[in-house]
Amino acid sequence: MKQIELNLKQPALKGTIEVPGDKSISHRSVMFGALAAGKTTIRHFLKGEDCLSTIDCFRKLGVEIEETQDEIIVHGKGWDGLVEPQEILDAGNSGTTTRLLLGILAGRPFHSVLVGDESIAKRPMDRVVIPLSQMGARIAGRENGRFTPLAVQGAPLAGIHYELPVASAQVKSALLFAGLQAEGETRITEPVPTRDHTEKMIQQFGGEVKREGRTIVVAGGQPLKGTEVYVPGDISSAAFFLVAGAITADSEVELVNVGLNPTRTGIIEVLTAMGADVIVKPHETAGEGMGTVRIRSSKLRGIEIGGDLIPRLIDEIPIIALLATQADGKTVIKDAEELKVKETNRIDTVVNELKKLGAKIEATEDGMIIHGKTPLTGGRVSSYGDHRIGMMLAVAAAIASEPVIIDNIEAIAVSYPEFFCDLERLIQ
Ligand code: S3P
Repeated sequence: MKQIELNLKQPALKGTIEVPGDKSISHRSVMFGALAAGKTTIRHFLKGEDCLSTIDCFRKLGVEIEETQDEIIVHGKGWDGLVEPQEILDAGNSGTTTRLLLGILAGRPFHSVLVGDESIAKRPMDRVVIPLSQMGARIAGRENGRFTPLAVQGAPLAGIHYELPVASAQVKSALLFAGLQAEGETRITEPVPTRDHTEKMIQQFGGEVKREGRTIVVAGGQPLKGTEVYVPGDISSAAFFLVAGAITADSEVELVNVGLNPTRTGIIEVLTAMGADVIVKPHETAGEGMGTVRIRSSKLRGIEIGGDLIPRLIDEIPIIALLATQADGKTVIKDAEELKVKETNRIDTVVNELKKLGAKIEATEDGMIIHGKTPLTGGRVSSYGDHRIGMMLAVAAAIASEPVIIDNIEAIAVSYPEFFCDLERLIQ
């Protein structure tokens, strides 16, 4: 377990950086590349541990994947190109790998076993196992398929109409992968729209998918064709520097080539509503959307965050909590029970660790309440193995009056291996 002592002395942050590729899109590009016929070339792929776990699983499933300095090249042979793995598939810390892979493996005619790390072993997988079983999948695991290790005996699948009980892009995507190999049509109704990278990628790989209100419809048996993918910068990684720029004095930070898919830009809306000096310049690109986001030190006010906005910023809530400690007045985050089943219980980890640094923050049943503006002191905190908690605490260290020691800092490599290099480049 690695720790770091950050004695940053409240620096100004200035400069331009390009954050690494989007984690969700990187995972999906390898998955679709593996299932498509022909070559898929992926540029600006996130070489974080989570996405490397996805590559490792597909190699074990017989897919040839080349890694060069700038590109990932996937030599897909179609759905039937996947072969029975001789080894256990290890998703590491990645919920996206575990859940989406279940949707793919459910319909393949072979046996496979899927495991992950300690954190994955505690996260609910029945949210995909239940609907996949309704489609005909045979998946066994601890507590009736709720937890890993999971054993999948591939079986023919049939389309269903499923109403998602929770807003989850991972569950939706697992069902879309299952639907693509099922007999007939699969309809998935979301309670609230979630990130739509899977839908966009089905189209990019030559398939068809429709949206009818809150329902997504996909037909089985569609051929997918290899293509070229450029992965935009991850707005969830950019969020740490957007908040850092807003809460440190005399700062101006520019982030280039950031993904601006509207299902992911809740953080920009929150910054704007809090009064931050933030400017977004979208590029004229089709598909996912990308642009430059610039932020300056800002005077902030507390707001209420909940409802349909939550899935559009779910991964940004730890850093939004820190942002709220520097806003005047009260910030309420609600409708975010899902935080309890992320890499850690993020209601607990955010509240406990920020409290140790002097924040006025309390947990609620479905979120948290933060009172600002509060100066942060130093102290010893932990990521608890959660990459986003680790990065949030490193940004907290930039405004703390004393050194901050962060335990378990290696977790950051899950989504942003170059995080500290980029932070250093901005420090004046
Ligand atoms: C993701 C969806 C979200 C998000 C996760 C990545 C994805 O999870 O928190 O980091 O790539 O589809 P849920 O679907 O569980 O909300």
